Amino acid sequence: MRAITVTKPASLDALTVRELPAPTPAQGEILVQWRASSLNYHDYLVANGSLPVVDGRIPLSDGAGDVIALGEGVTKWKVGDKVMSTFFPKWVDGKVNKAKTIGLGGDTVDGCAADKSCVAQDAVTAIPEAYSYAEAATLPCAALTAWRALMVEGGLQAGDSVLVEGSGGMSVFALQFAKAAGAYVYATTSNDDKIDQLKKLGADTVINYKTDPKWGATINKLSGGGVDHVLDVGGNTTLGHSIDAARVGGHISLIGILGGFTAEIMLPKLFGKQMRMTGISVGSAEMQDAMVRAINIAGIRPVIDRSFSLEELGAAFRYQETGQHFGKIVIEY
Ligand SMILES: NC(=O)c1ccc[n+]([C@@H]2O[C@H](COP(=O)([O-])OP(=O)(O)OC[C@H]3O[C@@H](n4cnc5c(N)ncnc54)[C@H](OP(=O)(O)O)[C@@H]3O)[C@@H](O)[C@H]2O)c1
Repeated sequence: MRAITVTKPASLDALTVRELPAPTPAQGEILVQWRASSLNYHDYLVANGSLPVVDGRIPLSDGAGDVIALGEGVTKWKVGDKVMSTFFPKWVDGKVNKAKTIGLGGDTVDGCAADKSCVAQDAVTAIPEAYSYAEAATLPCAALTAWRALMVEGGLQAGDSVLVEGSGGMSVFALQFAKAAGAYVYATTSNDDKIDQLKKLGADTVINYKTDPKWGATINKLSGGGVDHVLDVGGNTTLGHSIDAARVGGHISLIGILGGFTAEIMLPKLFGKQMRMTGISVGSAEMQDAMVRAINIAGIRPVIDRSFSLEELGAAFRYQETGQHFGKIVIEY
């Protein structure tokens, strides 16, 4: 079968397709033929060597495909079922703990950049009814993170206000979920050409974070005292603004590191506003199932910017690197 591996020293140029033996499912495992994947910033950091992985690791956390064989004792799936990966294969349900986050697809265990792989029967969920494989492959990391930040940790209510930052995969899903739930959405982008696209998806107010150096304060003012929920994606480049934008008693989901791995913040602002901050790392299979139920009912479709083949994975990451994309970049096998 075809697979892409991260060969050390890792670089986007080293992502080449190779032939590996097809795996056989062990007890409790299913064999999945992957049909599509999608790119997340985390995958980019693995592929370019910023995150250390073992030599030969198969990257990409997200995948959607068909169950093509069952190991002994598999009761949950049958051959032909359409499934998608989960970011933490061992976090099936309940609250998170260390054991549930060991084994992260495309990082500490092999991911979906291969024609086939064997996974535990609990490490996949059903895809939304009307979705293509490419659409389903956009969900496991980006969409679930947005879902958990808003609906699980944030407890979003109709009428709440939400700030989503940038127009990448996670933020665009957050915009879509927030609108479907009846929220007022503030969005930011560095690119004026993307303002209309964000508005078409329902963003009520869009601010260019490059041309407004005090965009957090601007959103606080426009919202009449701050927003209820912020999904922070930049860390050092955004967190101060996120705190400024949030209301007293608001909730900030700490999600991204686009501006670097560390951030300097004004602590008095944080406790002065009596805010909650939650570190979010994707979610569980149980949350993924809940998100899919909502997607089926609300009819939400992912925004796919562009599709590449598996052989073009390096080029797909180079495109992601430019930041030109709006929503998700997918890989179709
Ligand atoms: N914790 C988790 O569970 C989790 C899950 C998913 C993603 N994430 C994180 O969330 C972030 C976004 O991920 P993604 O996969 O959605 O990325 P992505 O699709 O590559 O999106 C990147 C977009 O964010 C905006 N951006 C870039 N640099 C920025 C900066 N310094 N400050 C503010 N915005 C910036 C740009 O949008 P414009 O062109 O509109 O400016 C860019 O197109 C990443 O840091 C990723 O690691 C975390």
